Amino acid sequence: MDENSKGREHWATRAGFVLAAAGSAIGLGNIWRFPYMTGEHGGAAFIVIYLIAILLLGYPLIVNEIILGRASQRDPVGAFRALAPNSPWWLVGGLAVFTGFIILSYYAVVAGWSLAYVYKVVIATQSPGIDHASVFTHHITSVWEPIAWQALFMALTVGIIAAGVVKGIQRWVTILMPILFVLLIILIIRSVTLPGAGAGLAYYLKPDFSEVTGRTLLGAISQAFFSLSLGMGALITYGSYLNSKDEIPGNAAYVVGLDTLVALLAGLALFPAIFALGFEPGAGPGLVFITLPAVFAQMPLGGIFGVLFFFLLGIAALTSAISLLEVVTAWLIDEKGWRRRNAAIFMGLLIFIVGLPATLGYSVFKDFSFPALGTDLLDTYDWFANSILLPLGGILSAIFAGYIWGIKNAVHEANKGGAFFRLGRGWAFLIRYIVPVLIVIIMAVGIYDSFFK
Ligand code: PHE
Repeated sequence: MDENSKGREHWATRAGFVLAAAGSAIGLGNIWRFPYMTGEHGGAAFIVIYLIAILLLGYPLIVNEIILGRASQRDPVGAFRALAPNSPWWLVGGLAVFTGFIILSYYAVVAGWSLAYVYKVVIATQSPGIDHASVFTHHITSVWEPIAWQALFMALTVGIIAAGVVKGIQRWVTILMPILFVLLIILIIRSVTLPGAGAGLAYYLKPDFSEVTGRTLLGAISQAFFSLSLGMGALITYGSYLNSKDEIPGNAAYVVGLDTLVALLAGLALFPAIFALGFEPGAGPGLVFITLPAVFAQMPLGGIFGVLFFFLLGIAALTSAISLLEVVTAWLIDEKGWRRRNAAIFMGLLIFIVGLPATLGYSVFKDFSFPALGTDLLDTYDWFANSILLPLGGILSAIFAGYIWGIKNAVHEANKGGAFFRLGRGWAFLIRYIVPVLIVIIMAVGIYDSFFK
């Protein structure tokens, strides 16, 4: 980023924004959450609904958030305040900051699991006949170990945000993300060539809509929001570091495309193996940690690939986590006048503490369960954040652009800066009508199904 005349940092290059936004989007959401959500919601039918959600809600809203940030040059709270002064709309920005806080609190727990697996996967792949599910259960039901990895992950996130330099991480991401990509391809090859992989491929590719309920729909939009980092101001914040000559519609499409591709590849790496090796697709949040080590165990040099994979998954999680912490930190800096370093450390600590119940949800608090929402505390945080807070943030920011700030301003802002292609009536229609109506309906049906069925 560069200092500009107003004193706000800006991305140094066009690639800077795209990489940071793609780094935010691509993370545990693609490789951890997408496959287990697909498995819990019936396979290919879920994917079809997910792809529709990406097109109708995800892409329009990504553009919407970026322009709110760029037009205002502010953090989420400041953005709404700048574009609608003297109105209560800044509260939507407040909701975004709160959501980022909650998501990071449990995101760091799962990211901690990935870090732990950088060495656990070696043990798991080197011990013939080991029960991969129980290795995972053993890890998450311990008390101190997951906490230590969670703390390490938070410390790394805080360190990067406190430094305030996206350049360091950006350079690494440019090198590391392609490696993760290649690794996924290798895993796919191994997975689809396992004897019995066909059943998994069919499950992944042949939709059966008979099992689709309101919960499935809500699950798909929660996944779309989570995976694209939507609805909690990350893209408002990253957009606020853009200049008016930066292109938006094409870059946003690029981010959406990359994110979707990585999710689909992760599913393709997992489902054939899940069926071939006799695991349950609906196993929930443990899916990746149980299935992949079993696949690595079936590969020559599997241990090495395993180490590399979980290391890269940790990096992918880190580039997402920094966007979560950046939102909360930017709010303290822009709105409360804090110094960056203090803001990052303070928030990092608070978020770590709020995440502890989720970490301990498999040990100390294992009897706590909220069957309608999720099976354990981590699932409950996840459900609340992604099925309620994110879609809510999405609707409100669409209504804001469509009716309060004004769709003309929004369309103008979206096309400013030499668009690869221009957004016009179609996009405006989606933001004003389709996004709010669709989300309200799906939330209503999904919440009803979650509690009363
Ligand atoms: N999109 C990230 C992922 O897929 C998670 C995330 C959600 C990051 C919301 C920022 C904001 O892992």
